[in-house]
Amino acid sequence: MKILIIGTGGMGRETLAILRDREKEDSCPRAELLGFLTNHTDLHGTTIDGCAVLGPESCVQEHPDAEVICAIGNPRDRIRVVAQLTALGAVFTQAVHPSLVCRPDAEISAGSIIAPHVTMTTNVRIGKHVIVNNNVSLSHDCVLEDFVSIAPGAVLAGYVHVECGAELGANCTLLPRIRIGRGACIGAGAVVTKDVAPNAIVAGVPARVLREFDGLDRL
Ligand SMILES: CC(C)(COP(=O)(O)OP(=O)(O)OC[C@H]1O[C@@H](n2cnc3c(N)ncnc32)[C@H](O)[C@@H]1OP(=O)(O)O)[C@@H](O)C(=O)NCCC(=O)NCCS
Repeated sequence: MKILIIGTGGMGRETLAILRDREKEDSCPRAELLGFLTNHTDLHGTTIDGCAVLGPESCVQEHPDAEVICAIGNPRDRIRVVAQLTALGAVFTQAVHPSLVCRPDAEISAGSIIAPHVTMTTNVRIGKHVIVNNNVSLSHDCVLEDFVSIAPGAVLAGYVHVECGAELGANCTLLPRIRIGRGACIGAGAVVTKDVAPNAIVAGVPARVLREFDGLDRL
């Protein structure tokens, strides 16, 4: 399998590291990493962490035999770019670090990225183009809908449900059965004790609403 990474920022470089760690594992299927694609024209023709930056995102069309991972951390940007890539015919794959601890019943959908040292207990379901960062703990029966992003160290208790495009900050804690609305944002270190409305931004212990996304930022 050939792979292209979309995005050359921190998440793109972390995704490269995940794929390289997979290459060291005999149990992981072999993959040929073709390089990065980005619309930052100043990076075209350069290398990042030893990996070539081949051209703009539209170059997916020049590699119809490659599978694609969209490694853009911000969910709103990721939704937009995945829609453009899908219209160009892109086929998406996953980047799951070999250190993942999970049960055989875990579901991880196409396009998702699972960073090192993530733990999922039983019956965890992860949608498409989700990013789960380092040291995240997902307890039993958690559901992450498409395009969710979770920063390092977050802890989700049982039956937590995170709707499409929501973003969880570093080291936040979500109590059991909490539902996070579509496009909401949870601040770093927050302890979320109540459901969070769509497009709300909350922070603190216990978490309180700071403001809401508005205009074009509403999902
Ligand atoms: C919650 C968050 C989204 C708010 O961003 P913002 O809307 O730009 O808010 P501001 O920085 O203007 O701060 C507004 C107020 O909230 C407070 N605040 C911001 N983040 C906070 C947090 N995580 N916990 C508690 N209070 C916080 C600020 O101190 C400020 O308070 P003040 O009005 O009394 O001065 C952001 O601070 C945050 O925590 N993002 C997550 C970052 C993260 O984990 N990234 C991971 C990358 S891998």
